[in-house]
Amino acid sequence: MRNAIRQAVDITKVSESKIGQVDFNNLNFGKVFTDHMFVCDYVNGEWQTPKIVPYGPLTLDPSARVFHYGQAVFEGMKAYKDDHGDTFLFRPDENFKRINKSSERLAMPEFPESYFFDGLNTLLELENDWIKPGFGNSLYIRPFSIATQASVSASEADEYKFMIICSPAQSYYSGDVSVLIAEEFSRSANGGIGYAKAAGNYAAQFYPTNLAKKQGYQQIIWTDADTHQYIEEAGTMNLFFRVNDTLLTAPISDRILDGVTRKSLITIAEKEGIHVDVRPIKVSEIVDAATNGSLKEIFGAGTAAVVSPIKAFGYKGEHYELTPQENSYAAHFKKALLDIQYNKVEDPFGWRV
Ligand code: COI
Repeated sequence: MRNAIRQAVDITKVSESKIGQVDFNNLNFGKVFTDHMFVCDYVNGEWQTPKIVPYGPLTLDPSARVFHYGQAVFEGMKAYKDDHGDTFLFRPDENFKRINKSSERLAMPEFPESYFFDGLNTLLELENDWIKPGFGNSLYIRPFSIATQASVSASEADEYKFMIICSPAQSYYSGDVSVLIAEEFSRSANGGIGYAKAAGNYAAQFYPTNLAKKQGYQQIIWTDADTHQYIEEAGTMNLFFRVNDTLLTAPISDRILDGVTRKSLITIAEKEGIHVDVRPIKVSEIVDAATNGSLKEIFGAGTAAVVSPIKAFGYKGEHYELTPQENSYAAHFKKALLDIQYNKVEDPFGWRV
């Protein structure tokens, strides 16, 4: 518990849990939700008393601004349970800070820290049975904020809903991923909202991603909007390239999400003496490295994706397959991260909460 005195949360519990209907061994990411949800309304310039209520549909006016102007931000976090039944979050302060940073960019009110953590802790206590132990099992937590004010006037709303919903999760991707490097489309531009976890950033990816899927790729590696010569990030994760024994990752900017998993991997790698080069990465150098054999691995890093190995990429009509590595950095980093998240080892960084 963060504070000695918790922010009061009004709780209405379900009369009967639906947990018995859930097959925890066959979960599709983000399809099943727990019994309760956290809701807090912003009205008259103030966040009202937060509530936890049975999970269910919302009633919103059709003119609510979120439907018309996409004024919405979100976060992705996970709760992990160790073999003793204790539950942990991973660097939750980072998610809290980032949702407020995203909100600021979308002209939305910041959410107070005590409301966020006390609401989240209370919700997780209620949903404790939904958090299953074992590597790969987790409770995916989706905090989000939406503009609810009824009016299609094109300006920021003055009424909002901040909510937290939870979904039991296993892996996001099953198997290794193939990606297509973008030649035409971009995720975001300078001065835009790429660094924010704004709902619209993800909606804008669906069309180009569908085109990539038609060519057999699951995701796109976005390139910069100006030249399409530099690697940015992938649809649901930041990216790492292992060239010989060096790791390359693009610097964060106002276009690239400051991923919690990304920065954790950089810290772990540096502690282990693995050289990480955080610098702009040219597509041509990745293509050259794939051609001359120095490109050993590509992997994505994200809360949902954890550490996802990328087995192949496409670019300008060519397909490049990577040779599986015996001592894979991706496998090593995934284990290092999961060991911390599931309380298997000491946490030298103080990330486990
Ligand atoms: C996460 O990793 O939590 C994300 O936000 C990716 C999501 C779009 C599935």
